Amino acid sequence: MIPINKPLIDDQEVREVLSVLEEGALTNASLKGGRRIQDLEALLRDFLQVRHVVAVNSGTAALHASLLAAGIGEGDEVLLPSFTFVATANAVVAAGARPVFVDIKRDDYTMDIADLRRRITAKSRAVIPVHLYGHPCGMDGLLEVAGKHSLSVIEDACQSLGSTYKGKQTGTFGIMGCYSMYASKVITAGEGGAIATNDDSLADKLRMIRNHGMVEGYDTQIFGLNMRLPEICAAIAKVQMGKLAGLLEVRRGNANMMSDLLRDCGKVRIPQEGRDSRFNWYLYTVAIEDRDRVKSEMQANGIGTAVYYDPPVHQTPYYRTMAPETKLPETEWSAKHVLSLPVHSGVDEEGIHRIASALRAAVKSL
Ligand SMILES: Cc1ncc(COP(=O)(O)O)c(C=O)c1O
Repeated sequence: MIPINKPLIDDQEVREVLSVLEEGALTNASLKGGRRIQDLEALLRDFLQVRHVVAVNSGTAALHASLLAAGIGEGDEVLLPSFTFVATANAVVAAGARPVFVDIKRDDYTMDIADLRRRITAKSRAVIPVHLYGHPCGMDGLLEVAGKHSLSVIEDACQSLGSTYKGKQTGTFGIMGCYSMYASKVITAGEGGAIATNDDSLADKLRMIRNHGMVEGYDTQIFGLNMRLPEICAAIAKVQMGKLAGLLEVRRGNANMMSDLLRDCGKVRIPQEGRDSRFNWYLYTVAIEDRDRVKSEMQANGIGTAVYYDPPVHQTPYYRTMAPETKLPETEWSAKHVLSLPVHSGVDEEGIHRIASALRAAVKSL
């Protein structure tokens, strides 16, 4: 079976984790965090070219902490796509605000800026663009609208570490950008997350928020939670950072090969980079008719594909009750047609050929 995603772990991660265990410094509740946390933050700062990175224990925590740091709470509305992992919306609810769902564009599955404009109200305080599948959202248009309506921009770059828009890393356009290092992501900590910002005072707040609002001992100054990343997870992620450039290159090679093999297959809509965007190829997502049947046939052929996401967040039982009248036609179409194929670094050339052939065979009868 070729899985949809697989972390690339070798002796280097094992050695680094063992060194944490041998030292016995499993975590560190100081404001700055432990040695591996600080090392990981420095590596991310350098890669992203930002002033500050604050590591936390998940992408969800990164989003939650960012909303708290931006002062978003009760009575506020936060605009975000429904076509995302539910964590984006859950973080808004956790901060006490109301999520307002915005439709996407069918060509790259990122936020539709015209629809964003339509859904802004007097209560709108923030917008969370999601760089879904590693496809950068069109940040020029988004920043323009956000600026006009004084919305804080918090990017959900949980799937897009290494993707760029106009040559700049996704997650570095807004006041804060959030990353995930969950096991399936381009690099992993097992579980983990990080926030990038160029704002000194937000960075100070984020460090407090990840540590119950404390600065020195039990002196809680603002609201926070335990969002600390364990040193073992930071040790894994630190090693993974050293592999990031190579991992991105393999994904790009695999994605290009896949596109070459599928380009003339009219029934499959393949993902394409735009003039301004460079993907990290976290997911290679096609759109097809009769998606569920194709998915089962691929599964029977030993190929693990995945649907991200059906149902979309606004149609899940919890969120449906919140705003039952929400209609997002492009999101709803995408949820029924998308299928992600494996292009991770564990798939070799023969694997890509197998995946492409299986897909071509499955769609032949459509
Ligand atoms: C778009 C998006 N947002 C948020 C998250 C939340 O990240 P985590 O699973 O690390 O909490 C994820 C990851 O799963 C994601 O894909």
